[in-house]
Amino acid sequence: MKFRINLFRKMTKTNLIYFLFAFGLVTMIWSCNDDPKLPGYEYMPDMYRGASYKQNSSNPNFKDSMTNRNPVAGTIARNQPFPFPYPHTNEGYELAGKELMNPLPKDSINMAEGQRLFGIFCIHCHGPEGKGNGTIVANGKFPPPPSYSGSQLKDLPEGKMFWTVTYGKNLMGSHASQLTQDERWKIIMYVQTLQKLGGDVKTTDSTATKTDKVMADKTPAKTTTKTKAKGK
Ligand code: HEC
Repeated sequence: MKFRINLFRKMTKTNLIYFLFAFGLVTMIWSCNDDPKLPGYEYMPDMYRGASYKQNSSNPNFKDSMTNRNPVAGTIARNQPFPFPYPHTNEGYELAGKELMNPLPKDSINMAEGQRLFGIFCIHCHGPEGKGNGTIVANGKFPPPPSYSGSQLKDLPEGKMFWTVTYGKNLMGSHASQLTQDERWKIIMYVQTLQKLGGDVKTTDSTATKTDKVMADKTPAKTTTKTKAKGK
């Protein structure tokens, strides 16, 4: 009783400390609750919950109540590749062959990256020299693709290559989801060096051993070691 009287009649320094302590204790106990979903008191709630609408949330400002919007017609988002204007048709293929050009500079950095990517995405079918004798062909698991430097493909324009790598063609699948447009162009740059190698490889009669022998004969030692190192 004496404590109470003292507390309210005369605020001594000791009493102030008692008071603050009691106040703190009550506040602490009061602020506890059983509901784990209640955040309690938030200092500056805007810091935790921004005023903007989150993606995929509903939005009263639009008629369809969706926050996610399509890009405005005729615009391209920043840092996004240009849309590919050639349709997945024979006409699109022919037109790409006539018009579509590699926008990247043909320098040694792009070429080296193209070779690296070729070793990851294409070599198992097309072979280290693009002669259509990759490992899965040699294994007898896949029919041989035509040689890049053979009569059928040696003059194939880069636009057609880009179209094929983008959409796929017959047994070759689309690589659009694995490779960005720039990556596709870098690989094509490398494929063009293989187009110039010349000479068809007879892959029609390819038992595993025969093709291995062809590859060992035709592949320069450097490429062989590189391919082996990559496989590890
Ligand atoms: C699963 C095996 C496979 C893979 C992987 C593969 N190709 Fe092919 N590729 C083929 C076959 C089969 C053809 C022949 C398609 C046809 O004309 O019927 C072909 C054809 C091509 C052609 C000729 C296209 C044309 O217009 O006639 C090019 C260029 C080519 N591939 C490049 C690539 C590149 C670059 C990669 C790697 C990004 C790649 N391929 C990955 C199997 C493959």
